[in-house]
Amino acid sequence: MQQIKTWEEYKSAYLLSTAEPEKFWAAVADNFEWQKKWDSVLQWNFTEPSVKWFEGAVSNITQNCLDRHTETSPDAISIIWEPNNPNEASQKISYRELLHSVNQFCNALSKIGVRKGDRVCIYLPMIPEAAIAMLACARMGAVHSVVFAGFSSASVADRINDSGCSFIITADAFYRGEKKVELKKIVDEALTQAPTIKHCVVFNHRSEQITMQPQRDVWWHEITKNCSNNFLPEPMNAEDPLFILYTSGSTGKPKGLLHTTAGYMVYTAFTFLNVFNYQNGEVFFCTADVGWVTGHSYLLYGALLNGATTVMFEGIPTYPDHGRFWDIVDKHQVNILYTAPTAIRSLETYGIKIFENKKLTSLRVLGSVGEPINEEAWHWYHTHVGKNKCDIVDTWWQTETGGILISPIATVTPLKPAFATLPLPGVQPVLVDESGNEIQGNNVAGNLCIKFPWPGMARTVYGNHERFRQTYFSTYSNLYFTGDGCRRDDDGYYRITGRVDDVINVSGHRIGTGEVENAIDEHPLVIESAVVGYPHDVKGQALYAFVICTEKISDVEKLVAEVREVVAQKIGSFAKPDKIQVVPGLPKTRSGKIMRRILRKVAERDTSNLGDTTTLLDPAVVDAILAGSK
Ligand code: PRX
Repeated sequence: MQQIKTWEEYKSAYLLSTAEPEKFWAAVADNFEWQKKWDSVLQWNFTEPSVKWFEGAVSNITQNCLDRHTETSPDAISIIWEPNNPNEASQKISYRELLHSVNQFCNALSKIGVRKGDRVCIYLPMIPEAAIAMLACARMGAVHSVVFAGFSSASVADRINDSGCSFIITADAFYRGEKKVELKKIVDEALTQAPTIKHCVVFNHRSEQITMQPQRDVWWHEITKNCSNNFLPEPMNAEDPLFILYTSGSTGKPKGLLHTTAGYMVYTAFTFLNVFNYQNGEVFFCTADVGWVTGHSYLLYGALLNGATTVMFEGIPTYPDHGRFWDIVDKHQVNILYTAPTAIRSLETYGIKIFENKKLTSLRVLGSVGEPINEEAWHWYHTHVGKNKCDIVDTWWQTETGGILISPIATVTPLKPAFATLPLPGVQPVLVDESGNEIQGNNVAGNLCIKFPWPGMARTVYGNHERFRQTYFSTYSNLYFTGDGCRRDDDGYYRITGRVDDVINVSGHRIGTGEVENAIDEHPLVIESAVVGYPHDVKGQALYAFVICTEKISDVEKLVAEVREVVAQKIGSFAKPDKIQVVPGLPKTRSGKIMRRILRKVAERDTSNLGDTTTLLDPAVVDAILAGSK
């Protein structure tokens, strides 16, 4: 695939991609192996909405991730696995070995009944088997639904039920830092509420004592024993589903975004190659978990499609000490590091002694993703990690977009700290005002929308196309609405300012306030709750919960601890509110709507001007809330 290497090339690629998008994307798609080429490049409308890329084409993403590179460079390393504990051995898996493991696992899954179109839940730690399981599903045409291994049993069950998974793949247990996570136990509990599961495949990762339920549970190593390492990739139509990935929105339960085969493949490969200016033979280290979209699109698919070596790290940046990321960079000679601002900010607090004896000379490009990166963190990353010689690509995108939309192209785009800079070729962003009018010109701010389809975009919310339409295509006509606010400066550069809805970004984890409220309300003493976000130095944003209880609480600390535990059980530990305040009432309008604006101000400790409170049913509630605020 041709790589954009100069500013002039970027400009002409961008012009072509908007003037003749079909020609542009057909040329990119020509670089892949197809069992049959497309009849039409693009058919679309944003009203139904319906978006079809490369209709008529037949391919399998794993053929392009694995077979292709196995033919040309079988011994090249596909995955480097770095365990949680640095004293245990890391693993290097060649492209040929990965292909063989995937094929074996395809045969094993076939044996237990997995068929094309089946939904398969993957609930695994950051181990090579997570990649093998995802690729095996893709190879046989089963639809993977990876659930981040920090989610609770209730969340696993919800996701299985929503997408009707008939299989789940998990492990006995794993360690995140010093903390043991007993995955199989969590799955056992989830499966009491998830009747569609026929089999649970268990990978023996830590040889922990677990209970295997006869008939239902099978060991990974037993079902793969004696399986052939040949398996023909299933011919997949361009718009056949590839995976479902759940993400939070402002209302309701998490949505299962559905991504399809050909467009996703073309888009993730193209953006990986260009944004990171990837060069043959380089080592790419994406610190995101495979349970999130960044892990899907760049740690796995984008990297493998380009024949890259991708580092998969099981642990956390602070274990066994705060130099772990840098040790990994030096040990595996990482060239491209892709991480989140929250990790940068948390490491920043330990001072530059965390760089003692670390070389970091292999680094060439740095990436940032998941939340706005503040200028200070940007400079720290640039100076101390990149030694002032690495470009930082601040990549803006979403689970829904499948791949990066607005970002510098490393070595090409002039950088500006804290700016995602410019749209990639094929991406047509617009800023709109509240009534949906496009805001022209520069030095303006508005809600960020995209007005033309790109190949990697999600096609629907699994099982609920109307929700997909409502959430993304109904706010403004003929536009995809991102939910983000954005500023365009004098140079036409984009700076994402954060969500404009009730989605909160805590340490890069996307959390819907409604979901947390529903969880809190499950506590027997809670009548009602309201959750808002407030700025947090390390996490970016943190959660502040206001709760009304059924009776006067004598031991508030106990209640707060219990409420936090309920959230951990219903969603996962990462969603626990930082602050919980018991309040006598919530600021509601006469029509019963909670005025979150007021709660946000309280949480932000910005109470000098609370705005108009006269429309409240009971304005005195505000004084009581202020009096007890944290
Ligand atoms: O608010 C934006 C923020 O993360 C949201 C998407 O979250 P998720 O679907 O979990 O995907 C995260 C990884 C792609 C966006 O709506 N966001 C993501 N990247 C950036 C960002 N905000 C500012 N700058 C970014 N680079």
